[in-house]
Amino acid sequence: MKRIDHTRWLSGFRMLLAVLIVCPLFVRSQRAQSEKQESNLRQMKEIEASIEDILGQLTLEEKVAMCHAQSKFSTPGVARLGIPEIWMSDGPHGVRGEINWDNWGYAGWTNDSITAFPALTCLAATFNPALSHAYGSSLGEEARYRKKDVLLGPGVNIYRTPLNGRNFEYMGEDPFLASEMVVPYIKGVQQNGVAACVKHFALNNQEKWRNYVDVKVSDRALHEIYLPAFKAAVEKGNVWAVMGSYNKFRGQYCSHHEFLINTILKGDWAFDGVVITDWGSAHDTREAALYGLDMEMGTGTDGLTTTLTNAYDNYYLANPFLEMLKSGEVPEEVLDDKVRRILRLMFRTNMNPDRGMGRMNNQEHLDVARKVASEGMVLLKNQGRFFPLDPDKEMTVAVIGENATRSMTQGGGSSELKARVEVSPLEGLRQRFPKATFLHSLGYSSGPSVYGRVEPAPYDADSLRQEALAMASKADKVLFIGGLNKSHLQDCEGGDRENLRLPFGQDNLLSEILKVNKNVGVVLISGNAVRMPWVDEVQGILQAWYAGSMAGHALADILSGDVNPSGKLPFTFPETLVENAAHSFGEASYPGIKKDQEYKEGIFVGYRWHETQKIKPLFPFGFGLSYTDFKVSQVKTNAEKYGSNDTVTISFKIENTGVRAGAEVVQVYMGKPDSKIARPTRELKGFQKLDLKPGESQTAEIRIPVSSFRYYNEDISDWALEPGDYSLYVGNASDHAYSTLEIAVSRD
Ligand code: GLC
Repeated sequence: MKRIDHTRWLSGFRMLLAVLIVCPLFVRSQRAQSEKQESNLRQMKEIEASIEDILGQLTLEEKVAMCHAQSKFSTPGVARLGIPEIWMSDGPHGVRGEINWDNWGYAGWTNDSITAFPALTCLAATFNPALSHAYGSSLGEEARYRKKDVLLGPGVNIYRTPLNGRNFEYMGEDPFLASEMVVPYIKGVQQNGVAACVKHFALNNQEKWRNYVDVKVSDRALHEIYLPAFKAAVEKGNVWAVMGSYNKFRGQYCSHHEFLINTILKGDWAFDGVVITDWGSAHDTREAALYGLDMEMGTGTDGLTTTLTNAYDNYYLANPFLEMLKSGEVPEEVLDDKVRRILRLMFRTNMNPDRGMGRMNNQEHLDVARKVASEGMVLLKNQGRFFPLDPDKEMTVAVIGENATRSMTQGGGSSELKARVEVSPLEGLRQRFPKATFLHSLGYSSGPSVYGRVEPAPYDADSLRQEALAMASKADKVLFIGGLNKSHLQDCEGGDRENLRLPFGQDNLLSEILKVNKNVGVVLISGNAVRMPWVDEVQGILQAWYAGSMAGHALADILSGDVNPSGKLPFTFPETLVENAAHSFGEASYPGIKKDQEYKEGIFVGYRWHETQKIKPLFPFGFGLSYTDFKVSQVKTNAEKYGSNDTVTISFKIENTGVRAGAEVVQVYMGKPDSKIARPTRELKGFQKLDLKPGESQTAEIRIPVSSFRYYNEDISDWALEPGDYSLYVGNASDHAYSTLEIAVSRD
């Protein structure tokens, strides 16, 4: 009698059962998805019909009024029809304090203190898109609660020069990293019924002469380096507003630019939202009307950005525009397109009955701010395991530096905040290390953060220095907490830094401290690379960013080892300024000559320059140490040959071989050594952050579409794929690969 193979029957039965259970679930989820899509489509059609209906009821004057400011941060609605005003607020790191109706002063409200989130360089350094979504949704809740319809952020201008005063507001030097991090931020903000306004479109990569510098850059660098994050914001983030930049591009102001806005943004990318000026970046009525500007803000009748009271009727898109429409010089359809976009913005925000009520200053937001801050901090050096410090140890630590106590949520220009809570580094350390004695000496000092000018330091430099040295000589350890400070010329809007050095005599002070105490750890609070002449002498270096409300707690999290550092640099630290690409081609390249500037380095920005020119940086893009160690092995691709529409799946095993839990960012860079065109030796095309317990190992995958290997071919004004062999460098920094994989790509 033939034995029945029960196991086969059993597995067959299980399969059948699975199909019977899963199949209807799958069908149900598919149906739900398609029903959701249909309802979204229906809703969009209803909104568009409503827009047309409203449009038909508006007078010419009402339509024109909607296209320009009625106050510093609002545009008029149409009261007789119950169409609301639109209220906007800075900024990318939190909701700015209320500004006066008609000037830049603060209104002195008592209900506008908020959560200050870390600067976007810190967020980018987390290499954690999910965390970026949490950041955006928390910030969006606060903007909603503050009754703001448009949040004027995020900024994604590429980090081209370490001198740019606003680099701290942006997401670093790599277009792929900025694209991956900006999309979830925007979705998070907008899920609250608040529009994100990605800025500054485009090529606003310095503050010096920002109001008029005329940038020239190759089409290839424009499309491969400077536009991708904006394109991702529109096409993947579905951003509802875009802010035009102050500067010019190829002779035309970017805020009303025929090629950038009409051809690329609203044409190629099919952007259906609103283009808003930067404050005072409109310069011409005809261009503003015809070259894609929808909303004019911040114009001054004197041509600057200081507006005489009630001069709004003199705005370029106000009476002058009305006259052009009445004379027929500009067809009314041009105006109607602007108003359609503005009404669409309203249906997404203040005329959207389904949007939430927002929340502000709650623990959840503070927790997000703290997590972004601690996850973004980058451990650059840790000789002899100087960090972490033992929280249970009795020790005397000399904390030296102004940034240990200085508020860093203030200053920096329009992104400054009125934080309800701001825990300083010193405060955070004292709370976390109860058995230690933290003595503090300023060591150096600088003036208050005043926009546009340098204020004198309030204290005598020599006495501060003497006190600091005396304190350092008697301490067990020294923590030097310095950096830049968002005062004018030191990471602040409206001006660039004048050199790569730390200001206020910090380098000399540090070298003197090192003579009296060798146990020195440096914490840099800044949003930019700095020179480090003391890099070989200090024991530890931590890049701690402008970390917002929870800065002190986040720093203590890292320095105590409660959190294992996992941040990676979003931009290169050059040894010296001339090693940076933008500063390798003379004045014409930076800052420009008179009003003209040419980005002569083309696509070779940041690590693309350093790696290709084989210039060893002080610290490379993508670099960051951990308190534990990781091992990556079994790195392989799912095939050897790929077609142009394929996706490369890179799998690998990663192990935490240390004794602390930690996270590693595995990065994949693409190169084509035998390329027939000029290319960087490597370009970031994928990354993944993985959390691992001590001893734990995981297998993971990073998927990279072959289409991302394309380059912008200026001969055909389009993207093109070069067939042939490619190298994939799988590592944990732009200059370190665990292994290199070779694949072949065919054009088909
Ligand atoms: C500023 C900034 C911009 C800001 C706006 C409103 O000049 O360039 O980022 O959102 O004006 O403050």
